[in-house]
Amino acid sequence: MFSRYKKDAPAAPVHPALMTEPDDALRAQPDPKPEGNAATADAPKSKIQRRQAPKKAVVAAEPTAQDKETKRRARLDEIKTEMHSRLLDNLNLSALENAKEAELRAEINSITNDELADMGAVLNREDRTTLQTELFDEVTGLGPLEPLLKDDTVNDILINGPFNVFIERAGKLTKSEVRFKDERHLLRIIDKIVSAVGRRVDESNPYVDARLKDGSRFNAMVPPVGVDGSLVSIRKFKKDKLKIDDLVEFGAFNEEMAAYLQAAVATRLNVIVSGGTGSGKTTTLNALSSFIDNSERILTIEDTAELQLQQEHVGRMESRPPNVEGKGAVTQRDCLRNALRMRPDRIIVGETRGEEVIDMLQAMNTGHDGSMTTIHANSARDGVSRLENMIAMAGIEMPIKAVRSQISSAVNLIVQASRLQDGSRRMVSITEVTGMEGEVISMQEVFRYERLGLKPDGTIIGRFTATGVRSFYSERFRQWGYDLPSSIYEPAGD
Ligand SMILES: Nc1ncnc2c1ncn2[C@@H]1O[C@H](COP(=O)(O)OP(=O)(O)OP(=O)(O)O)[C@@H](O)[C@H]1O
Ligand SMILES: [Mg+2]
Repeated sequence: MFSRYKKDAPAAPVHPALMTEPDDALRAQPDPKPEGNAATADAPKSKIQRRQAPKKAVVAAEPTAQDKETKRRARLDEIKTEMHSRLLDNLNLSALENAKEAELRAEINSITNDELADMGAVLNREDRTTLQTELFDEVTGLGPLEPLLKDDTVNDILINGPFNVFIERAGKLTKSEVRFKDERHLLRIIDKIVSAVGRRVDESNPYVDARLKDGSRFNAMVPPVGVDGSLVSIRKFKKDKLKIDDLVEFGAFNEEMAAYLQAAVATRLNVIVSGGTGSGKTTTLNALSSFIDNSERILTIEDTAELQLQQEHVGRMESRPPNVEGKGAVTQRDCLRNALRMRPDRIIVGETRGEEVIDMLQAMNTGHDGSMTTIHANSARDGVSRLENMIAMAGIEMPIKAVRSQISSAVNLIVQASRLQDGSRRMVSITEVTGMEGEVISMQEVFRYERLGLKPDGTIIGRFTATGVRSFYSERFRQWGYDLPSSIYEPAGD
């Protein structure tokens, strides 16, 4: 009956919790109770009286639809856990690795049906199908996460302990119905994810940052560091990264800004995309890279490889954390130093967050112009301070003026990305670094997003506008053949 996927060992004994009568809600057709059986020792003897007080008439004791649903879910969960351990007992896991999906589904369905019959649990067709799908996901994939991972409209999955799973769709973060049975279940799934990419996470090594096989970025922090249970965040990999046209269409910036950015990237200005977490920095950087000429040699350096460049001549590097003995780390800085010996035309660092800042600025200053990176900051000015701090933290003792002059000659443009309160991601400012005035780095904002109001549904009303300042680099643009019309620098009228 169980063919080659079934182990020879006998099925596990029935879980005591499941020996009880199945809940009414789970029965396709509740057993009709013969009148005679309903009588108990202290039940009224008269037939008429008994009819007057049927079970359903006791309004106070009648569970609400919501109670029933909760009970039904709990019961389904209980059955699922039991079925899962039975499946693991019954399935030949090594044969399972090579099984075809249809075959495996059929096998799981058949085992489920037999075991349900064995347990005396009666499920309606819908519950049975749900159970079978969930079990299939549990055995072969990542359990409750599976439907979220398959759903292309979900881009972020954030888990705070087993019962709180949040998802982001179209910029909106909402709590999802998905939940894990308990912390152990969540830990088992985390373990499955990280062990598949050769990593480990446990009490002595309680956090991990990894790239999954499908390219998604995965971070987990387990107890005791995660106080109320494991904390997980998954940034799903998008096969089709948002392109410049998509970003214009989604209102991330307007066409004039796109034309300006094209000129800036093509004429090899050094660009920093600044923004908060999840504000769209990597997406913007990736889209901007499309303006790089196909003939150029580009090297990318990232902690978790996310960028997908379209050019032909691209070398991708990914830093590596130390192994369990604390050895073998390859930092972004190591990659960057090495990259400088690899004759790149441009260097793209996914995110500058530490000591690699020094090599990044040096690269930008020494012939690798047109390089790009992102930093975590809330405004262009703040971005510059972040760079200064990173230099100080890297242990470089330089007078502040020298640091600033290094920054001002390395960085040409700061593009500020932001995730606004209505969930939309926009490029809220494009600022040029124009030099130094005394000890201060001088900058000028060329484009900005202006907030005008709020719709009743919470959507922000706003528009992009030029500030009226002509680009400091207009002459360069012109010389390189990107003669932008002066009208793009005109502010939007009232
Ligand atoms: N303009 C946009 N419109 C809609 N979705 C966007 C936009 N920009 C980015 N996204 C989506 O938002 C999510 C976060 O984007 P991204 O990875 O670029 O952010 P980030 O700032 O690099 O985040 P982190 O700080 O975590 O590295 C992605 O799923 C991306 O597809
Ligand atoms: Mg990023």
